[in-house]
Amino acid sequence: MEQGSQVPHVIIFPLPALGPVNSTLKLAELLSLAGLNITFLNTDFNHDRLVLHSNILDRFASFPGFQFKTISDGLPADHPRAGDRFMELFDSFKLVTKPLFREMLFSGQLNSITGESVTCIIADGILSFPIDVGHELGIPVISIRTISACSFWAFFSIQDIIEAGELPSRGHEDMDRLITSVPGMETFLRLRDLPSICRANNLEDPNLQHNAYANRQSVQAHGLILNTFEDLEGPILSHIRSQCPKVYTLGPLHTFLKFRLEYENALLQSLAPNSIYKVDKSCIEWLNAQPLKSVIYVSFGSITVLTRDELMEFWYGLVNSKKRFLWVIRPDLVAQKDGEGQIPMELLEGTKDMGYIVGWAPQEEVLAHQAVGGFLTHSGWNSTLESIVAGVPMICWSYFYDQQVNSRFVSEVWKLGMDMKDVCDRVIIEKMVNDLMGEKREVFMKSTVEMARLASESVSEGGSSYCNLNRLIEDIRLMSVAAVK
Ligand code: UDX
Repeated sequence: MEQGSQVPHVIIFPLPALGPVNSTLKLAELLSLAGLNITFLNTDFNHDRLVLHSNILDRFASFPGFQFKTISDGLPADHPRAGDRFMELFDSFKLVTKPLFREMLFSGQLNSITGESVTCIIADGILSFPIDVGHELGIPVISIRTISACSFWAFFSIQDIIEAGELPSRGHEDMDRLITSVPGMETFLRLRDLPSICRANNLEDPNLQHNAYANRQSVQAHGLILNTFEDLEGPILSHIRSQCPKVYTLGPLHTFLKFRLEYENALLQSLAPNSIYKVDKSCIEWLNAQPLKSVIYVSFGSITVLTRDELMEFWYGLVNSKKRFLWVIRPDLVAQKDGEGQIPMELLEGTKDMGYIVGWAPQEEVLAHQAVGGFLTHSGWNSTLESIVAGVPMICWSYFYDQQVNSRFVSEVWKLGMDMKDVCDRVIIEKMVNDLMGEKREVFMKSTVEMARLASESVSEGGSSYCNLNRLIEDIRLMSVAAVK
């Protein structure tokens, strides 16, 4: 313990969705490896699912200063917390979770395992209330956003877009209109590439209002952590730094942790990813039997909900492409109200020949598999980063929120794949799959290989994320020194 101070005790409070929980757990492990005391505060709902489907408790058991704590998200147990109902979390967080959080901090329920009080809160910036509570109780808060810098910047600029008269949207025919009031994106960002909440045709829309406000709150925090790396998003990061001077880019966090654990010679089993679904590893055996780079991996993350029509378009598009495919169809991927219905025989036959379907895959392992040559993704930020690290080109079918911005950057700026947003048509899916797995592959491979190299470099000794993590740890230690003065 350093002189005159306690060991820093950091509360990490993620947004309760798998992507953010996954990446903040990786940050928690990196900070634990550095000797900090960590309390990981998860919602009851997500914690129970994590414990059920992963080895998460064993994995952190080796850190004496680490503990899990849980808090209510304020929603009933049977609430889906997915699709377009995900946003309901924000209201219940404000009503139920905020006062609970304040009370838990105030009463010492969130003290560290060895009884120390909290010296720093790292909370998802979109929640915004931890900043208010931190200010109230005199605890420094660092925001973390587990979305890309480019999408964060688009969210941050919503107020400016509104003031420039470029929002609200005027409906479908308007979607290709260029948006010129997001600095750094003036030449390529269309209305359809803005975060999906900007599609509201009414400026009073509560989601639009909440996001316009909450994303600006990040500047009230002591700093901002982003799961990205300088070589990927340097130009946009310069714009963000003009508003939030202390930005720590630490990404890709999953690769960073892998490198750090290898360095520390830790058990490889601790690398098993965290999951809120039961992982079906049989797909690895299936991949082992497929030719090099022949399979397109299809997954829409943990929240996306498809209509049955969309499911059918994807299915026909994949089967008709005659390419091999591995598809994650979560138990809750398809909206219940659409009914079950029969799957046409030709699809079942086509899948038997060329496809493999699982309820949940070990995604990082799948993307790193030599048989995988492409990724049809919803452009969630974790999936995008995982694909970048694995050097796998993408077809982007963004579903909501930040994904619309990510998919534009994947195709237009980074040249790592193709953007299929707002289209769900079997003929186009077939064509895009054939393009990605066929003649266009080489075009994308140059940039995917180079970006994968830069991603590894950033988390290696001396790389930008490597240095930023050291800076973050130093700043957190200084906060705890200040706390005991
Ligand atoms: C959400 C949002 O949708 C996303 O846009 C935002 O950037 C983060 O929060 P999610 O939809 O779950 O997350 O997508 P994503 O960020 O891609 O995270 C999904 C995670 O689940 C990835 O880490 C991926 O590896 C993992 N996964 C997905 C699996 O392990 N197995 C699967 O079968 C599918």
